[in-house]
Amino acid sequence: MSGYEKPSRGWGFCAPSPVLLLSLLTAAPLGLLGEETRQVSLKVISNAPDFSQNLLHIRAVGTNSTLHYVWSSLGPPAVLLVATNTPNSTLSVNWSLLLSSDPDGGLMVLPEESIQFSSALVFTRLFEFDSTNMSDAASRPPGKSYPPYSLANFSWNNITDSLDPATLSATFQGHPVRDPTGAFANGSLAFRVQAFSTSGRPAQPPRLLHSADTCQLEVALVGASPRGNRSLFGLEVATLGQGPGCPSMQEQHSIDDEYAPAVFQSPIVRAFFKTQDHSCAFNLTFGAPTGPGYWDQHYLSWSMLLGVGSPPVDALSPLVLGIMAVALGAPALMLLAGGLFLLLGRKRDSEYQAIN
Ligand SMILES: *[C@@H]1O[C@H](CO)[C@@H](O)[C@H](O)[C@H]1NC(C)=O
Ligand SMILES: *[C@@H]1O[C@H](CO)[C@@H](O)[C@H](O)[C@H]1NC(C)=O
Ligand SMILES: *[C@@H]1O[C@H](CO)[C@@H](O)[C@H](O)[C@H]1NC(C)=O
Ligand SMILES: *[C@@H]1O[C@H](CO)[C@@H](O)[C@H](O)[C@H]1NC(C)=O
Ligand SMILES: *[C@@H]1O[C@H](CO)[C@@H](O)[C@H](O)[C@H]1NC(C)=O
Ligand SMILES: *[C@@H]1O[C@H](CO)[C@@H](O)[C@H](O)[C@H]1NC(C)=O
Ligand SMILES: *[C@@H]1O[C@H](CO)[C@@H](O)[C@H](O)[C@H]1NC(C)=O
Repeated sequence: MSGYEKPSRGWGFCAPSPVLLLSLLTAAPLGLLGEETRQVSLKVISNAPDFSQNLLHIRAVGTNSTLHYVWSSLGPPAVLLVATNTPNSTLSVNWSLLLSSDPDGGLMVLPEESIQFSSALVFTRLFEFDSTNMSDAASRPPGKSYPPYSLANFSWNNITDSLDPATLSATFQGHPVRDPTGAFANGSLAFRVQAFSTSGRPAQPPRLLHSADTCQLEVALVGASPRGNRSLFGLEVATLGQGPGCPSMQEQHSIDDEYAPAVFQSPIVRAFFKTQDHSCAFNLTFGAPTGPGYWDQHYLSWSMLLGVGSPPVDALSPLVLGIMAVALGAPALMLLAGGLFLLLGRKRDSEYQAIN
């Protein structure tokens, strides 16, 4: 399958409603945040000599703190976020432990006492809804669900090939291992991860303002055949952390028997967290049955920021329509799901810029 390409031409569009912007945050531990610049490095950690199993380790070092992001496609795509109060903390991976039936301790951030905060996100399922008969744009779910695609059953590209040190980015691109209908014959779902050493705003819509305390995640569905004429897509996300409770946000569900603990059987999460008490799941669904939609160009992307501390909201793109800020009981996970990007027809670059 060809490499993941960012749309270089086209008309970026945020659906008029409902754009959902989630932010899970609280006061972060003092001294951890607000680093203006960080030394960022990206490294693929392979299970040598096999090399087919990889982790992507992003290390963002500030004066007094380090943020570690560990991305994995062992199981469903997942990221572990660990913040420490020292510039010298390191990630330690023991592959034989990590892939064993009891992976506890297979993945550690050392020294352990420097850890101020840790959390994880797991991207579990891709939902497709038939919104043909839905006239109410705000209805949830936005139509009847087709059988979801389980992201644990996807196969992913070689992350090493997609690593770009210049842009501090890498892409997990995948498609279902079993694809009886051929829906993904020409399509893929891609998770593009980008880290930043300073604050700023990327060139591509929705141009979320980022800081050195955040990573951007862009999830793009490209070229897959929809199962209906008016398909809307949603991404199910599970989160886990130290907090005493789930964040109170729209469409959030506590994980009970239906999910736990299966959702967190991705090895990196099981290896890092000894207990999985505080877990929640929610759906990110963007777009409206009234369109525009994925059906226009078979291109759809969700952009989000992930990091610690307060989201850089002051200069949000005008395309972003709302924000919901909620407190988790414990410090500092921030997930800012900031907008939908669709490709609609061909427009010149000047017009493309205009919407920003
Ligand atoms: C992934 O790509 C890297 C660099 O091209 C290569 O060295 C490595 O062998 C590849 N891994 C697999 C499993 O193909
Ligand atoms: C880092 O820690 C030192 C000692 O605690 C403190 O003096 C300094 O202000 C801190 N720097 C930052 C950027 O927080
Ligand atoms: C990994 O863990 C196993 C089991 O605890 C241990 O025997 C092995 O020495 C460890 N490997 C490394 C490189 O630390
Ligand atoms: C949509 O409505 C039409 C006409 O009422 C009906 O025939 C069709 O079965 C409905 N489709 C779905 C997916 O509900
Ligand atoms: C995939 O692309 C090929 C070549 O463009 C085309 O013939 C085929 O119909 C496409 N398959 C699907 C499922 O879209
Ligand atoms: C899609 O639209 C076409 C033309 O309007 C119609 O013939 C077809 O039955 C529709 N397909 C589905 C799955 O609704
Ligand atoms: C996401 O949406 C699907 C389809 O409506 C539903 O089955 C699933 O339970 C939702 N997940 C969560 C965590 O709400």
